Amino acid sequence: MLAIDNLKKHFGFVKAVDNINLDIEEGEIVSIIGTNGAGKTTLVNLISGYIKPDSGRILFFNKDITYASPYVRIKLGVGRSFQLIQLFGGITVLDNVRTALFSKYGMIRRGLLSADRYSSVTEEAIKILDNFNMADKRNLTPKGLSEGDLKILDIAIAFALKSKLLLLDEPTSGVATSDKFKVMDSIVSAIKKEGISTLIIEHDMDIVSGYSDRVVVMHEGRIMAQGKPDEIMENKEVKATVFGIVS
Ligand SMILES: Nc1ncnc2c1ncn2[C@@H]1O[C@H](COP(=O)(O)OP(=O)(O)O)[C@@H](O)[C@H]1O
Ligand SMILES: [Mg+2]
Repeated sequence: MLAIDNLKKHFGFVKAVDNINLDIEEGEIVSIIGTNGAGKTTLVNLISGYIKPDSGRILFFNKDITYASPYVRIKLGVGRSFQLIQLFGGITVLDNVRTALFSKYGMIRRGLLSADRYSSVTEEAIKILDNFNMADKRNLTPKGLSEGDLKILDIAIAFALKSKLLLLDEPTSGVATSDKFKVMDSIVSAIKKEGISTLIIEHDMDIVSGYSDRVVVMHEGRIMAQGKPDEIMENKEVKATVFGIVS
């Protein structure tokens, strides 16, 4: 569904992304790991359209999106977590998801909607929240949520926008250690139910091994290794470079 072909982005002398080739299959959950500065965020920014590459191509369901705007990509189904910036603090969790659905359906003014249409959007919003184990919190405002629940809500909204590929840059950063697995369980079970492909940047190896089908290791803008989580954990070069373990 996603095909990255010889993608390159340099910042001056820094080879942030240096001729990367990477495919993601439908329904696959892929984690990217690597030390600070390896190029992980740059790669995700290239996929979401936040920055443009020097060369190479990005195909999404065989459509060339290399230079498409972020807006066009979201419409096509490339979703990302927005680090919470698009949440509205003054309205409830349910209204946040409803607002995302309204914008997806191009219905800006709810006053113009028939009662039927309005209640079907409400049902859809509740179903999405239920998928993420958040239905019981629908009447709270984001201020009343834990950091972990905010992350889940953020991703539920990307989901409401009908993403076919979710890009998650450190989904559990800022979440209390005791909540990390709960947050990942909610996110991953919803993703699996819908068969959405997901690219996760994460440095917590417990999370990486617990939730990914495939791990891609980046180093100095290149892919150093990729494989199943347990293969990667045993890879000597990865252990030495990424984890500083020499054996
Ligand atoms: N906008 C930018 N301008 C200049 N250098 C950048 C920019 N964004 C990233 N870099 C550099 O590119 C390299 C890769 O950064 P990044 O993709 O953020 O790595 P990671 O997410 O793996 O920590 C780093 O050396 C970083 O300093
Ligand atoms: Mg980063």
